[in-house]
Amino acid sequence: MAQIELRDISKRWGTFVGVHKFDLTIADREFLVLLGPSGCGKTTTMRMIAGLEDISEGEVLIDGRRVNDLDPKDRDIAMVFQSYALYPNMNVYDNIRFPLKVRGVPAADHDAKVMRAAEMVELVPFLKRRPAELSGGQRQRVALARAIVREPNLFLMDEPLSNLDAKLRVSTRAQIKHLSHELGVTTIYVTHDQIEAMTLADRVVVMNAGVVQQVGTPTDIYDWPANTFVASFIGTPAMNLMEGRIDDGVFTGENVTIAGIAAPDGPVTLGFRAEDAQMVPTGGQINGQVYSLELLGDATMATVRAGGAIVSIKCSKDFRAAIGADFAAQIPLSAVHLFDAASGLRIGHSSPSH
Ligand SMILES: Nc1ncnc2c1ncn2[C@@H]1O[C@H](COP(=O)(O)OP(=O)(O)O)[C@@H](O)[C@H]1O
Ligand SMILES: [Mg+2]
Repeated sequence: MAQIELRDISKRWGTFVGVHKFDLTIADREFLVLLGPSGCGKTTTMRMIAGLEDISEGEVLIDGRRVNDLDPKDRDIAMVFQSYALYPNMNVYDNIRFPLKVRGVPAADHDAKVMRAAEMVELVPFLKRRPAELSGGQRQRVALARAIVREPNLFLMDEPLSNLDAKLRVSTRAQIKHLSHELGVTTIYVTHDQIEAMTLADRVVVMNAGVVQQVGTPTDIYDWPANTFVASFIGTPAMNLMEGRIDDGVFTGENVTIAGIAAPDGPVTLGFRAEDAQMVPTGGQINGQVYSLELLGDATMATVRAGGAIVSIKCSKDFRAAIGADFAAQIPLSAVHLFDAASGLRIGHSSPSH
């Protein structure tokens, strides 16, 4: 059981701000994902929570108790990193058991706890092996088991899947989600991979340059991006963004005209997702030339050039067009997102859950 409160925590080194006023309450048993590009402050935030990094400003509370000055070992937190940090001379069993020894758990309880953790991550057949005799995926599962065996209040996981190949990432991801659910332990998980974030999280925190951009459910973040940074970071492909202006309810940009928009006159950035646009035979709101086609199996992704903008449009799987051919596309008004041209902030309605 642990509720985590981050009260405006900041980290500065000299004049450089690594994390700026991160303020959030993480519910007991919540699976929270910190998502953002490399260098945005994810690991630093995590290390402040763990006590591995001094907090320049603000407070961290665990279950209402201020822990700023508490040693990492007294915070009841288990961490899993990208590098597994296993003891090379110990076999799997002893690696998993190690935290129990360190924490003075009665020896009589060790075997049952180690076996339970090993079973949860399917390592029972490998208990006698040393880390060097394991695959990357198995090593990461040892690291997970070593976190589980402690029965902590909080899991902190920093890019735990980064060293695994694509297929193993998907299966280990599913395993982490299952474990977190089964153990009911509050988890803060760091990744730069938006698919990982969307599939694992109860809530996602999108960060950029040390600043929280948006906090929301995966659906919120995808359907109601708070600004152009979130819009262009989330989604494969990212949201299409086109510069232009609105006059009397008509958005006009290079090769794009969309009427019926309910927003004040002025310069805006218009956004829409590839799957919300549709190719049409003629006319259309967006016009230009086909740049490339990618066959995805269940769909064809058309990349098209509309004036200076490169735009993605998800088409039916049998859509075909010659490179350089003219195209026309439509977007339903309900799928149009508008952002302030200067600040990049979303204009008008925000997520219904806020
Ligand atoms: N000890 C340090 N001294 C100075 N700058 C640091 C230190 N640790 C991290 N940084 C900087 O803080 C920023 C955030 O780093 P980090 O939290 O590791 O990012 P992320 O985990 O999101 O990739 C980066 O610009 C990084 O270079
Ligand atoms: Mg990091």
